[in-house]
Order: sequence, then C-alpha cells, then structure tokens
Amino acid sequence: MKRVFSGVKPTGHLTLGNYLGAMRQWAAVDQHRADALFCVVDLHALTVDHDPARVRRLSRQAATLLLAAGLDPRLCTVFVQSHVDEHARLSYVLECVATDGEMRRMIQYKEKSVRERERGGSVRLSLLTYPVLMAADILAYGTDEVPVGEDQAQHVELARDLAARFNHRYGRTFVVPRTTVPKVAARVMNLQEPTSKMGKSDDSGPGIVYLLDEPDVIRKKVMRAVTDSGREVVYDPEARPGVANLLEILAACSGGDPADLSGAYASYGALKKDTAEAVVEVLRPVQERHRELCADPGHVEEVLRDGAERARAMARPTVDAAYRAIGLLPAVSGAEAVLNAAR
Ligand code: TYM
Repeated sequence: MKRVFSGVKPTGHLTLGNYLGAMRQWAAVDQHRADALFCVVDLHALTVDHDPARVRRLSRQAATLLLAAGLDPRLCTVFVQSHVDEHARLSYVLECVATDGEMRRMIQYKEKSVRERERGGSVRLSLLTYPVLMAADILAYGTDEVPVGEDQAQHVELARDLAARFNHRYGRTFVVPRTTVPKVAARVMNLQEPTSKMGKSDDSGPGIVYLLDEPDVIRKKVMRAVTDSGREVVYDPEARPGVANLLEILAACSGGDPADLSGAYASYGALKKDTAEAVVEVLRPVQERHRELCADPGHVEEVLRDGAERARAMARPTVDAAYRAIGLLPAVSGAEAVLNAAR
C-alpha cells in the first residue's frame, strides 16, 4: 500500500483554498487508497512572528477541522508535528545535505522575507530552513505521495532532491516522494486580488473565505469578488483571472469542469450567485461536524495522542537509519553496553 503524507500549518484560520486544494482530496480519496498521515505542522508556525497562545488555539482548531472535513482516524493517522520528535531530529541531518543556495532560491522564502523586511521586521533563520523541515516531515515516513496545492510543489521537489542526494551519498535510506495536485482548484485565488493565492496568513479578509465563515459572510465575500472588465463569462485564467477563479471554485464544489461551466452563464452576477451557494453547501457539513467535535474536545485529544503514537513508531526506524547512514554513532542501551563489555 502506498504511503501518503501531508500537512497544514496553523498560522491562520483555514481557508477554502486549503479545503479545495488539499483537505477535500485527503478525506475523499487519499485516506481510502493509501496508508495516509495528516499532520498539523505546528513547528512551521514558529517561522514567522507568532503569538504562542494563538498558535496553540489554531493548532487545536486545525486538528478539529481535519476531522470535521472527514478524516477518519480509523482509516488514517492524524497528529501534531511537535508531538513526534523525529521531525526535528531528521531536519538537522537534512540541513547537512541541503545547501544555502538552494534554500535561498525557494519562492516562498523570497516572497515572505521581502514582505517581512518591508514591514520592518526581521526574518527568522527558521524561515530559510523551513523547506528542510518540510522535507523531514515527508521523508521520515517513507512517503510515496504528497497531496498538496500547487504552491507547495517546489517544496516537495526539494524533498525529492534531498532524498536522492542523501541516498546517493550515504546509501539508500529514503523513498523519493512525488507530488500530487488536484485537477481543479490547485491554486484558489484571493477573491479581491485574483492574481494572488488565497492564503490564510494574508491580511485581506474580504478576499478570503474561511472554513468557519457563516453562510451569509461567504455569500457576501463571493458576491463582492473582483471580476474583470469584460462581460462575457469565459474561462481564461490569464486574461480573466477573477472569473476563472470563480469558475474553478464552482467546478471544484460542483464536480464540473471550469471551461464547460462557463457556457452556462450569461452574466457575472449569476455565476457569483451559484458559486456562493455551491461554497455554502460544500462547507455546511464541515461546519456542522466542527460544531459537534467542539462539544467533545476530549475526543480530538484522544485522536491526536493515538495518532502521535502511531506516527512515532512509523518514523523512528527511518530516522534511526538516516543517523547511522550519515555516520552518527548509534546510542547503545544499558543492557547492550553490558553485553558489549563482556564480549
Ligand atoms: P499550508 O498550511 O499553507 O496549506 C495546507 C495545504 O493547503 C494547500 N493550499 C491551497 N491549495 C489551493 N489553493 C490555495 N489558495 C491554497 N492555500 C493552501 C497547500 O498547498 C497545502 O497542501 N508547507 C505546507 C505545510 C507542510 C507540508 C509538510 C505539506 C509542512 N510540512 C509536508 C505537505 C507535506 C504549508 O504551508 O501548507
């Protein structure tokens, strides 16, 4: 059975982009066809300015939303990254395989570091090394496939490079993973700025649909989406990014094809109305389940405890093997030391 690994970062409230680009596939497809792990990657949330209490709150909320979106702990492993030491253990070893140059070429680092500097903030070293930790997340589990939205493809590519380089230098240790992205909605755009990704850490609230937005808030955000100056509804992501984004969202929610759907609409207004209703309907069951789960926080904690235990057992042998392969002296237990001394 294939091993699948993916994660969400608790740096903000989860969005429609997270859901359509990633979580929905995890629940509908991946957990049924593979030995799958899904992780709230909280260590990654410390790479930018953060408030400790907020990260804790968002981590709990992200875990609850993963379950609300349909991840079933009987089918897959759901856990929190910082509960499993192997991620940080492996990350250091991979830092000894990665180069400074390849880290500085990562698009997200370039964009975020420019933004941080413009705001007068400093850039944490962990923002630069973030993709190595992400590679460790993936490689620790012998992952075959990483289902993500398009924005993460470059990071998974780095994980592939590091795995191949490590194997070449120190002997075959890691599975070289591959990315899978959804056919539609692999990059949901901000409704107010349709040339930028809908990102949970961005400040532009009106352009972002959050998974826990009330139905009326969702309707308002979609109805106010920025469209283009034309009038005809055509699917052309280059020339008409606003309309293309709405068509992609509608297609992802209703199971259609964006180009085919464009023919069914004579006006932007009608397209927005149907898109808003489709989003409300797709999120309704997630929000209902989220409410139920919030009433039983003990259940979520139990799932996470059990998930971390399973994840630890899976990651440990691979990370131990990497430590041995790169030249670190294995630690011996007390009993082994006595045996060795007697030999
Ligand atoms: P994060 O938390 O930004 O996003 C979680 C998942 O949602 C996808 N996604 C989107 N898809 C389509 N349109 C959007 N607007 C959109 N916004 C987000 C992301 O592509 C992602 O699949 N670095 C990762 C977290 C991570 C990870 C990992 C993922 C850490 N370690 C190991 C996979 C494997 C991140 O920041 O995702």
